Amino acid sequence: MSVSPLPCVLVAGGAGYIGSHMARMLLESGFHAVVVDNLTTGHEQALCETTFRQGDIGDRAFMREVLREFEPQCVMHFAAASLVGESVAEPAKYWRNNFVQTLNLLDAMLECGVRQFIFSSTAAVYGNPVEVPITEQHPQLPINPYGNSKLAVERALQDYDRAYGLRSITLRYFNAAGAHPDGTLGERHEPETHLIPLVLQVASGRRPEIARFGSDFPTRDGSCIRDYIHVQDLCTAHLLALRKLADGAPTNVYNLGNGNGHSVNEVIAAAREVTGHPIPVRDAPRRPGDPPVLVADARRARDELAWVPAYPDIATIIAHAWLWEQKLAGQRR
Ligand code: UFG
Repeated sequence: MSVSPLPCVLVAGGAGYIGSHMARMLLESGFHAVVVDNLTTGHEQALCETTFRQGDIGDRAFMREVLREFEPQCVMHFAAASLVGESVAEPAKYWRNNFVQTLNLLDAMLECGVRQFIFSSTAAVYGNPVEVPITEQHPQLPINPYGNSKLAVERALQDYDRAYGLRSITLRYFNAAGAHPDGTLGERHEPETHLIPLVLQVASGRRPEIARFGSDFPTRDGSCIRDYIHVQDLCTAHLLALRKLADGAPTNVYNLGNGNGHSVNEVIAAAREVTGHPIPVRDAPRRPGDPPVLVADARRARDELAWVPAYPDIATIIAHAWLWEQKLAGQRR
């Protein structure tokens, strides 16, 4: 039996970067959020006043227990391995964590009669874009095991709806970035590989310089262009998706991005402006598998979910991440 009178949502991976922001937003929006996380990459400090159960989302007996205890209306699934380079070196980890574990989670849900699911997918399902901005219909030909594992789940979700009536909304994130505007939650990966947190670690003195992976791409300034989307805006889209599924919407897929591309050079320039620090740059070879440009066409999310990003401006995204980086750097001093 559910222990709370509030509608309940289970947040798989709720101690991680995006999941922790989501758990907090759910709480602030009047939901009972139950976080499940095995804390291999998530952080206990990122948990807010939510209910927490530590364990693997792929452990069916454990998940059945949690699902029966709380009877959530929906499961949001953020628990995944998400490093493209690592996925090439260790595909087994990606197929197991992202695909096999997710199937176990879905099967536990079916056993407990939970039939609404929101899935965190990625622009990596598109592979090398043949057309930009990228719509949801763009060919899905991933070029790495990370993208393959996410696309495989998307396909399973189509089949699970047809056969078992499990309705889902898949959200394909472009470049998740930023932090909670109050500076108390943010991104903390070990090792960190993402551009904005690394650039800000240079600004705070934790790193000497930022490596620019390639300066001869066919783009306006030779560096890669990405569509950075604020973590709070990703979470808002999940809330809208939750309501849509509750209203009976069919299974669907949405891109989440601002539709604005920023080059690596532009991100570094904006970070210099926000932080007031020089941020030295070193030229480095291209990183294998980096497409020159990834920019979303997210009109479907705007039209059908009524999603309007609140923080589309790159300077604001960086300013929020900077508040968080200063907190982390302060803790290490
Ligand atoms: N970059 C650098 N130097 C760094 C780190 C990154 O120049 O030290 C560049 C990258 O080459 C890329 C851009 O900054 O052009 C952004 O890189 P990130 O690592 O921050 O993000 P990615 O675009 O590689 O990754 C994102 C998501 C993945 C998703 C991928 C799809 O984080 O989950 O897009 O290609 F799979």
